[in-house]
Amino acid sequence: MKILVTGGIGFIGSHIAEYHAAKGDEVVVIDNLSRGTLLGKPVFNYDYTINHLAEYKNIRFVKADIRDFKVLSEAAAGCDLIFHAASQTAVTASLLNPAEDFTSNVVGTFNVLEAARTNGVGTVVYCSTNKVYGNNVNNVGIVENSTRYVFEDAYRNGIPETFPIDRCEHTPYGCSKLSGDIYCQEYAHRYGIRTCNLRMSCIYGTRQFGVEDQGWVAWLVYATLRGLPITIYGDGKQIRDLLFISDLVDLYARFLVSEIPNGVFNVGGGREFTVSIIELLDILYNVTGKRSAVTFAEWRHSDQKAYVSDIGKASTELQWQPQISPREGIDRLVSFISGCSLLEGIDASLPGKH
Ligand SMILES: NC(=O)c1ccc[n+]([C@@H]2O[C@H](COP(=O)([O-])OP(=O)(O)OC[C@H]3O[C@@H](n4cnc5c(N)ncnc54)[C@H](O)[C@@H]3O)[C@@H](O)[C@H]2O)c1
Repeated sequence: MKILVTGGIGFIGSHIAEYHAAKGDEVVVIDNLSRGTLLGKPVFNYDYTINHLAEYKNIRFVKADIRDFKVLSEAAAGCDLIFHAASQTAVTASLLNPAEDFTSNVVGTFNVLEAARTNGVGTVVYCSTNKVYGNNVNNVGIVENSTRYVFEDAYRNGIPETFPIDRCEHTPYGCSKLSGDIYCQEYAHRYGIRTCNLRMSCIYGTRQFGVEDQGWVAWLVYATLRGLPITIYGDGKQIRDLLFISDLVDLYARFLVSEIPNGVFNVGGGREFTVSIIELLDILYNVTGKRSAVTFAEWRHSDQKAYVSDIGKASTELQWQPQISPREGIDRLVSFISGCSLLEGIDASLPGKH
């Protein structure tokens, strides 16, 4: 099998590339390395991930932008599958530079689908997001307890794929990702490409170099280990369902071997694997014995007080269940970041100060 992974030097893409390489597939990775800076500030360098993937002789890295259709199409030629992870990923950056967000996420995704269609690539898997549901999520009733918000009973299993996506605010990032999501569905209906939209909640794990603006679990681990001050936007009771990266790869692998022609799946840890920010800081204290100084600031635009994925559809159709609890996953991430000196000297909180 030959696979193209866009954004394959990033967190999720690099794990997918490694999964296929370890199986002996031929893998082409495209990445423009833009995540190395965020809002004009250096975030991290890519040496760690590039060197890691270079250990696999069946991975070829092409430094390119998915907005360059010619290069993208050449890379897609002869592929059986495209895993599309490349994206502008931060809500905050999308508010400051919606044009960059639009071209990267809408034009970029359209290019990926066109590269698939014109090269006869059979399958496209798209990294979608829970942000497609926008501010509608904040209309679900919540109950506040001492450390977290909890959805009211009607949504105790979380947000299903049938949840409304329109007549609400989304943020530019939510709009651009939703546009890509709908295009992927359309290319399945119109052109018979097998597409899969993974509407992901909070994925975390090794090789995630999180910053305040994106990848919050990794950012809080990193800040805690380095003793950096932490700003919590809102009251810290906002909850998310956490999914460790190996569980995401497992779900993806199950989709590939399934008979499902195309699908949309809400993907996260589900109701069993939820955590709030202040609960996460407590877990980190238990694991590391460290606690950073915390200050509280205004809620961020369109932040969801609670988001939990209803993973019933993925669970039933793919016979899949997340295996790694937040406690275990955080343990693993602490071990990874402790042993990784790449981020020394970089103040990853800087891009968020606006
Ligand atoms: N991590 C999460 O919790 C999460 C949640 C929901 C959705 N997603 C989606 O999953 C995908 C991967 O996210 P991630 O966490 O691995 O982020 P990441 O930033 O680690 O990876 C994205 C990669 O894409 C590259 N890239 C960005 N724009 C590009 C372009 N125009 N051309 C080529 N390469 C480009 C970046 O350099 C980066 O290496 C994204 O589409 C994101 O929107 C992630």
